[in-house]
Amino acid sequence: MKKATYTVTAALPYANGPLHLGHVAGVYLPADIFVRFLRMNAHDVAFICGSDEHGAAITLRAKKEGVSPQEIVDKYNHLIKNAFEQFNISFDIFHRTSDQLHHETSADFFKKLHDQGKFTKQTSDQYYDEEFQQFLADRYIAGECPKCANPNAYGDQCEKCGSDLSPTDLKNPKSTLSGKSPVLKSTSHWYLPMDQHEVWLKEWIQNGVLDGVQQHDPKTWRNQVIGQCMSWINGGLKPRAMTRDLDWGVKVPLPNAEGKVLYVWLDAPIGYISATKQWALDNGKDWKDYWCKDQAGDRKLVHFIGKDNIVFHAIIFPILLKDHGDFILPDNVPAYEFLNLEGDKFSTSRNWAVWLHEYLASYPEKVDELKYVLSAIAPESKDSEFTWKEYQTRVNSELADIYGNFVNRTLVLTQKYYEGIVPKPLNFEEVDLQVLEELKEIPNRISKLIYAYKLRDAQAEMMQIARIGNKYLADQEPWKLIKTNPERVQTIMYIALQITAKLTLASSPFLPDTSIKLQNILNKKLGDWSDFLNDELLSPGHLIGEPMILFPKIEDSLVNSELERLKNNDDVKSNFPQ
Ligand code: MF3
Ligand code: ZN
Repeated sequence: MKKATYTVTAALPYANGPLHLGHVAGVYLPADIFVRFLRMNAHDVAFICGSDEHGAAITLRAKKEGVSPQEIVDKYNHLIKNAFEQFNISFDIFHRTSDQLHHETSADFFKKLHDQGKFTKQTSDQYYDEEFQQFLADRYIAGECPKCANPNAYGDQCEKCGSDLSPTDLKNPKSTLSGKSPVLKSTSHWYLPMDQHEVWLKEWIQNGVLDGVQQHDPKTWRNQVIGQCMSWINGGLKPRAMTRDLDWGVKVPLPNAEGKVLYVWLDAPIGYISATKQWALDNGKDWKDYWCKDQAGDRKLVHFIGKDNIVFHAIIFPILLKDHGDFILPDNVPAYEFLNLEGDKFSTSRNWAVWLHEYLASYPEKVDELKYVLSAIAPESKDSEFTWKEYQTRVNSELADIYGNFVNRTLVLTQKYYEGIVPKPLNFEEVDLQVLEELKEIPNRISKLIYAYKLRDAQAEMMQIARIGNKYLADQEPWKLIKTNPERVQTIMYIALQITAKLTLASSPFLPDTSIKLQNILNKKLGDWSDFLNDELLSPGHLIGEPMILFPKIEDSLVNSELERLKNNDDVKSNFPQ
């Protein structure tokens, strides 16, 4: 049977600033691991991302830097795309929502919903900045959060308590353009009557059933995702405006809609579709195979996001997809909690952050080290924390002392005893058979964990292979036996080499650069998960290459200088706007 086709998306980052490790740990890296695993398992996959280039996040940043929105998005699209490339995130396409194809795709999408009567048009009084002659939606207006009293909540959301807000909910509202109190002025917009969708949403989110058909397995959805959605729905969904009075964005494709653009949270997720279209065009594929229902075969849509994006991906976008009529709904929305840094929240305004592009500029040869640490601490079910000390400990005592040590010993001894030729095993003892048996179960455990979006545990299972290998060598002590019982050493080294090959294979989703290095040394291509079915990945007589140090130790000086840098940033205060 043909395996399911997967469309995997990673939240489109706003092109208004660089990415920090929190973004990487909680969206892009897990998505990449998941996709690499799927590809190894012969799934047809489209891995989609791009930059989110509309909305107040962009225009306000442009205003702060005193340049045009176009200059902002060009600059950060470039910076973000390069950082992803250097970090070896394997998107099939990194597109952008300012692209013409996206403008057409999202305008057509809106038009189709409009023509089917899926929106209601409403005229209401909205806040307006007389000095800037602009309506104030979303981040253009700030004030006190009615729920947690945070004085700096935005018109769409309170970043402190996570509440979803509208401008009129704010106490003591002020324009973020002029800082002045706004006036009320009448304007018309198209609204999505979300209140009319509560019944099917509940059934679909909680039970995975849509129109009487089982669509997804709710047991694989994270508790926080279902919980947050249900609390939203039970609190009562309200109609939400799908258009804005702005001059930056996708123009509303209707007559008499001068000066109006699509709401950024309408156009951005459609960006996943436009990006898939562009990728399909470039690669001779049919984008519909990745998005549309009624195509042959099983297809799954998966959105990797941060927890602040849950409502948009698990409620609003599904409503839009269903209203449109042609599309499948997400099979899962793996959302991540937040990563903190050295005891504090990542903060752009205080520059309390480790920026991905800066890390890569400082340590271009330490890509897999960072991937390993971020996956080990990924905020899968609760907030977690990155510290440079833990980075050092995990690299030194896990990657170097366990993984690197095992591989290095095996390769060094193979060179020393057999000039790099895989020896022929003679007599398998009980302990050998036990190790081989133990190893057989690990790939299945990894698979189950990955399909269940438990990537942290999956990586730990991968490391288990190295632990088993290390223990095996330490117990068998081939370096002692070589004089007295060279026959026995042949079997030991044969097994150690099979473990090394399995480790190389299992590492591929998590430590792709390392896996490639090892495949080159082992002189064997190991990219297919079904290779695990083969008990003998390296046959006697096969020639392997010279060892190399995979993970040099992290010195205290690195930790100290990074901590120093953070502290200085915090003192100086950077010019990054919030
Ligand atoms: N730019 C948004 C953010 O950083 C994410 C957009 S995801 C998309 O929070 F689905 F809308 F594209
Ligand atoms: Zn709040």
